[in-house]
Amino acid sequence: MKFNVGLFAPTLLLFHAVLATTSNKTPYERLNREDALLLVVDMQVGLFLIVRDLEPVLFKTSLIAHARIAEQFNLPVVMTTSAQEGPNGHLPREILDMYPNAPLIPRGGEVNAWDNADFRAAVRSQNKTQIILGGILTDVCTAFLAQSLRDEGYSVWANAEASGTSTPMVRDLANDIMRTAGVHVTSLFGIVGELMRDWRGPYSGDLLTYFDDYFPTLGVLARFHRTAIENGTIVPGEGALPV
Ligand SMILES: *[C@@H]1O[C@H](CO)[C@@H](O)[C@H](O)[C@H]1NC(C)=O
Ligand SMILES: *[C@@H]1O[C@H](CO)[C@@H](O)[C@H](O)[C@H]1NC(C)=O
Repeated sequence: MKFNVGLFAPTLLLFHAVLATTSNKTPYERLNREDALLLVVDMQVGLFLIVRDLEPVLFKTSLIAHARIAEQFNLPVVMTTSAQEGPNGHLPREILDMYPNAPLIPRGGEVNAWDNADFRAAVRSQNKTQIILGGILTDVCTAFLAQSLRDEGYSVWANAEASGTSTPMVRDLANDIMRTAGVHVTSLFGIVGELMRDWRGPYSGDLLTYFDDYFPTLGVLARFHRTAIENGTIVPGEGALPV
């Protein structure tokens, strides 16, 4: 007797879909200040010019904001560049001046920073398990390194706002590849909010100035709140609004 697969196919498909969804899920993992290392990868002034998936004024600010995460939370930093003597250029002066004592590994030719022994040693010597990563280009420098770090057993948070590439399509592909490798692809606030953990401190007070610079919707909200408390008054009509 011929077994009628057709009858069972929809059920089988559903079963496989459920299995795939559950087994591919990257579990929620907390990003901890004590465990984290921040990487600044190939955010070079020459490579910046290739980035076309993000608006340049915002992207320039986002690179600085990424670098400053370590300053805010006192995290170690490792920086690297790719062929910086050529057209790729150096890191922005603002970032170089921020961490004059952090390791900066200039790579001669390795596209994936993990192929460079000095870079591997610099990362490993920090004894951290969680890596916060941003770099140019998303599909090459960021995604290659993120996958190598996952293979090494690190947990990786890719700051999507601090990585840029040629087109939105290429960015989406790169982020899909990273997610499949178990990378947490997230935003600046997604990273900072997790490191901060609690609005009651100890970091939240200092962070309002940081947010005012790099996530101004929140910074200006806080200014507005302060003005309302210190110098505000209910104007006619407001009293009728629900609170
Ligand atoms: C990492 O661990 C090694 C071995 O315990 C130690 O010698 C080194 O000082 C540690 N490095 C940092 C940055 O804490
Ligand atoms: C506070 O409110 C008073 C009027 O009540 C106004 O004269 C003053 O300019 C306000 N100050 C600020 C900083 O907004």
